[in-house]
Amino acid sequence: MASLSIYLIKPISQNPKIPLRASDDSHNSKMIPPTISSLGFGFRFFQHGSFENMRIKFRSSFKNEALVDSGINQTFDVPLLTSSEAIERLKSHRENHKGKQQFLAMYSSIFGGITTDPAAMVIPIDDHMVHRGHAVFDTAAIMDGYLYELDQHLNRILRSAAMAKINPPFDRETIRRILIQTASASKCRNGSLKYWLSVGPGDFQLSPSGCNQPTFYAVVYQDQSPSSSKGIKVITSSIPIKPPQFATTKSVNYLPNVLSKMEAEEKGAFAAIWLDNEGFIAEGPNMNVAFVTREKELLMPHFDKILSGCTANRVLVLAEQLVSEGKLQGVRVGNVTVEEGKKASEMMLLGSGILALPVLQWDDQVIGDGREGSVTQALLNLIIEDMKSGPPLVRVPIPY
Ligand SMILES: Cc1ncc(COP(=O)(O)O)c(C=O)c1O
Repeated sequence: MASLSIYLIKPISQNPKIPLRASDDSHNSKMIPPTISSLGFGFRFFQHGSFENMRIKFRSSFKNEALVDSGINQTFDVPLLTSSEAIERLKSHRENHKGKQQFLAMYSSIFGGITTDPAAMVIPIDDHMVHRGHAVFDTAAIMDGYLYELDQHLNRILRSAAMAKINPPFDRETIRRILIQTASASKCRNGSLKYWLSVGPGDFQLSPSGCNQPTFYAVVYQDQSPSSSKGIKVITSSIPIKPPQFATTKSVNYLPNVLSKMEAEEKGAFAAIWLDNEGFIAEGPNMNVAFVTREKELLMPHFDKILSGCTANRVLVLAEQLVSEGKLQGVRVGNVTVEEGKKASEMMLLGSGILALPVLQWDDQVIGDGREGSVTQALLNLIIEDMKSGPPLVRVPIPY
């Protein structure tokens, strides 16, 4: 099937594949005006539960008025699609754009159920999450058919929702039940469960006062990229860190995080590390950082100005085992200076996606002896063991 872009590069009059009729019963203008097509009205129709209601009609004089008003010779080459044509194109778009991640199941409170069809995994364009970034999210890993740290992530998204003044559409237990059922419907045994709470659709205003239907979305996906425990390089981010109120909230406002990651990639590094407003080490764009000092102490920046990472918090508990084995002298959370960090014997990144990743170089400074450290490796092994056979507190079975 041809992709959407192939359809769009030709004027409609030269493209036999594009039906000129807006819909069977349409006797009005055949083409969608650019202003309306760019609003993407089609997605809005999901809220009413039926694509079949989608009929956009224009006054028959529209085309002439537009031509006269603009004073230029416009070609109307954007097709006006019926609902079934739009769905077909969503399907072929998905089929033609296969990435490294496979989308296995999605729950949406808009349609009040779960779909396993990636083409239907869409959200309304007027959701405050889309046009104002007013939503919060979280992610839990699926390992061997168990959800890892589901309750810890759930607590965090509810905390974030309160900070963002989002009133969730369901209580905690219902959200938890939906997440487990979505994971079950996906049949995924190893992957990720990502979910969002939003103030919901309503209108395109800045104020959410017109959004009366908070939404909950969840998606399960499988990542094909190989995970690695190979040491990486980081740089210091030149993108400003979010102020504490926003850094401690896991909202969908990740523009600074994205730019920071891009800056790292542009400079051949894996991530860029933020310093806080006092110059202390803060965090990475989607991970926390930790150090092993020369005195064999595990040292982590505290969480009052950064995101309280579920992985980092679990590492603080798991590391006690290394203390009892004598591999660590102690565990400490506090202010960490750049000087302390750069002269540490080990540095690591901690997060749900990367687990524990050794850092071998920060800017021009080689960390420790420039090789993956034994404590980072031991912590990585403990996290993996915890994911595979940890206590019920961190492992929720998925009933397939
Ligand atoms: C800004 C930020 N810091 C830290 C983390 C690590 O958190 P977690 O271990 O819960 O994945 C994340 C991950 O979501 C993040 O986005």
